[in-house]
Amino acid sequence: MPIPERLNPTVGFGRAVAADPLEEARKRLIVALDVPDAASAANLVCQLENTCHWFKVGLELFVAAGPAVLKPLVARGHSVFLDLKFHDIPNTVAGAARSAADLGVRMMTVHAAGGPAMLAAARAALDGVANPPELLAVTVLTSMDKTQVNSVGVDRSPAKQVELLARMGLDAGMRGFVCSPQEVAQLRALTGPAGVLVIPGIRPAGSVIGDQKRIATPGDALRQGASYLVVGRPITQAPDPAEAAEAILKEMAEVL
Ligand code: C5P
Repeated sequence: MPIPERLNPTVGFGRAVAADPLEEARKRLIVALDVPDAASAANLVCQLENTCHWFKVGLELFVAAGPAVLKPLVARGHSVFLDLKFHDIPNTVAGAARSAADLGVRMMTVHAAGGPAMLAAARAALDGVANPPELLAVTVLTSMDKTQVNSVGVDRSPAKQVELLARMGLDAGMRGFVCSPQEVAQLRALTGPAGVLVIPGIRPAGSVIGDQKRIATPGDALRQGASYLVVGRPITQAPDPAEAAEAILKEMAEVL
């Protein structure tokens, strides 16, 4: 399995009772380090590393700080999700996937909209490396509602587009997907228990929604079938990030 055993969810999508629900919740919470530089990332990790196991490095931090920003995270034993959402010709994406695997990350993303040939090339590239990261296909960004989806020439609802992309991804050999909490139940029905469903757009009750459109609370997302939750601003912009993470973990634990 690409995900280390200690971080792999062991119960079925919130329906069984976990032996230690809080530990199970820790395995499923990914903190998005959406900060502008390595020093800010190090500061956040310092505050959160006793609470959280997974950290996501996305475009903002990676473009500012480069691959070097991943090294201390990996060296300190954290699991790193490299969320660069590759979308290019198959040969280029296959090479980028190999390069990402060399950096020691445990999850990485490509855009499902890159098409079946691109997805299959990325999958094949990772099948050729030892202990590969989990490859996730991003379906429709959680910041896109129907108006946004339609404005790029896709004449259907976000939910229908997510389903189309997921079916195409499954046919191309994918098992991991990123989707909004609003489509997670539909995707879980499609993938069955083997699917690795990673869900951003998580907002605890009462928190600021920001640019996200298709959102849910941590508990609801897990109940609907999420494997992992991605949470950024509700933790990273809280006055006390560790306290905010603990509150989310407690909410998650209640349904595990
Ligand atoms: O701050 P917030 O909790 O909204 O952060 C969500 C994170 O998940 C961001 O890093 C964003 O890039 C990422 N993401 C997303 N929607 C997707 C895929 C990734 O919001 N479909």
